[in-house]
Amino acid sequence: MQKRTFIKRLGQLALASPFTPHLSYSQSRLTINGKQPYIETDDFWLKIRADYDIKPDYINLESGYYNIIPIPTRQKLEEHIKMVNFEGTYYMRTVQWDNKKAAAARLAKLVNCSPEELIITRNATESLDMVITGYPWQEGDEAIMAEQDYGSMLDQFKLAARRYHIVNKVVSVPNHPESDEEIVQLYENQITPKTKLLFISHMINITGHILPIKKICEMAHRYGVEVLVDGAHCIGHFDVNIEELDCDYYGTSLHKWLATPLGAGFLYVSKKKIPKIWPLLAEHRREPYDIARLNHTGTHPVYTDLTINDAIDYHEKIGVERKENRLRFLQHYWTDTVRNISGVIVNTPIDKTRSCGIANVGMAHLEPQELADTLMNEFKIFTVAIDGANVHGCRVSPNVFTTTEELDEFIKALKTIAARA
Ligand SMILES: Cc1ncc(COP(=O)(O)O)c(C=O)c1O
Repeated sequence: MQKRTFIKRLGQLALASPFTPHLSYSQSRLTINGKQPYIETDDFWLKIRADYDIKPDYINLESGYYNIIPIPTRQKLEEHIKMVNFEGTYYMRTVQWDNKKAAAARLAKLVNCSPEELIITRNATESLDMVITGYPWQEGDEAIMAEQDYGSMLDQFKLAARRYHIVNKVVSVPNHPESDEEIVQLYENQITPKTKLLFISHMINITGHILPIKKICEMAHRYGVEVLVDGAHCIGHFDVNIEELDCDYYGTSLHKWLATPLGAGFLYVSKKKIPKIWPLLAEHRREPYDIARLNHTGTHPVYTDLTINDAIDYHEKIGVERKENRLRFLQHYWTDTVRNISGVIVNTPIDKTRSCGIANVGMAHLEPQELADTLMNEFKIFTVAIDGANVHGCRVSPNVFTTTEELDEFIKALKTIAARA
């Protein structure tokens, strides 16, 4: 397609977009490394891309930290900020909590659990650390986790070990397991009569590896061990059905793949476990099974809570399955191309059920930070270096706005770097 035809076509698509009431697309937003335009053959995803304000300075393959939010959601956030500022204390004293509860109910529907089992938190850290630190530990109790889990949670377990004298057992998850059973066995081998809690990442953040949570829960429950799942990278990334997983606790951030404004997460606690967890912050008197007893926050940015609804609207307009398929497609678009190149090491399983949008790639002849620096400085491609827990490479997390043309640039860069070995 010629450049002018393409731009005209983009204009038509933008006008037709159901998601863009005030489209602020400009030609520069499709400019990468001074070149343009990047032609996305798939009209739908081009419209989605036009919903984003994309910094033209580099190709952003680091959405794993947090997802920038699309313009329609950002506009809703701005409206909520204006409204709350206009209503002031009256808002806080009247509908604040009803609105937060409604947003929590919407989230519960999205992940298939009861609204009585889910609270909105500030992030995955708050959700998960509340359970780790609020668990009714007895001296000598044991917890199981993996060295590939997120550092803050591992630190929280270390803190619990010092504070409550529990014992932490740490496994190492292989980057390329043969089967689910291999993973289940790895954790099962650590269980003793003293094991109380098994902590596991639904998706390992440094590799994008999705773990067989349902099977882990079945195994752990046979021993009477509870399961706390870190789903920081999962909600809004792929379809998560909490009832089906049958875990006891599930914590996540929403400012990652659900693309809410910064400062949103949720904690799911299975109804029968609600009374046993100590709240992070003391709440007024509540019934033991009322999950609100775990939800004291103090005064906080309530417009973030309100915007969760809008983020879910946007997410559902894309379509949960369509988004998951797109993210998985993008990952395989580049990993399938580079996996067999000499010197390139893909640290993410090849099996499509074990990963989605995120993957990790290293180079035999380069330290991860050198690779990340080369990608950014020479090729204007932004990733993040990971160097530890048996993972040495760059985490690569494209988003719904990523084009295959951007990934072609990335593939070209990897081939060039590999050839220098
Ligand atoms: C696996 C995992 N868990 C927890 C977190 C913490 O998320 P947050 O900083 O939003 O609390 C992260 C952040 O990247 C993560 O990757």
